[in-house]
Amino acid sequence: MKRSLLLLVLLAASQGALAQTTPSAENGRTVFAKWCTPCHGADIVTGELWGRAPAPGTAALQLKYRGELPAVLEERTDLTGEFIETVVRGGLFGMPITRKTEISDSELEDIIAYLTKGDAG
Ligand code: HEC
Repeated sequence: MKRSLLLLVLLAASQGALAQTTPSAENGRTVFAKWCTPCHGADIVTGELWGRAPAPGTAALQLKYRGELPAVLEERTDLTGEFIETVVRGGLFGMPITRKTEISDSELEDIIAYLTKGDAG
């Protein structure tokens, strides 16, 4: 009985430590490439007839900012962690919501570290 209690305490302590690891921009780049690049990459291949076209998210941001900000998310320097989290979890016009079963909170932290270059503001 006492031993299992001790185990529980140790388990809880180790999980607390895991939850506090600093976000990894490198993993963020991997998760971004899988979930975000299809819409936020520079361009996509649309087929032999039309060749390459801007990705839908990039095209939308081109229209939205008309060149005042880079249309490719990875080139932005003004993004804050709070804004990214709000858009990813809540969606924004053509941008779909992303569930925690798709991108976990810690993966989202990694994406934020990647997009904000560690300056999540
Ligand atoms: C299905 C396509 C699609 C996917 C996948 C997608 N986005 Fe978007 N995203 C969009 C579109 C379209 C917009 C423009 C919304 C608008 O009109 O304001 C957008 C806007 C955004 C914005 C707001 C930029 C701004 O200045 O308004 C952020 C931040 C963003 N996306 C982050 C992400 C991240 C991070 C991921 C991956 C987890 C992701 N998006 C995946 C389509 C997508």
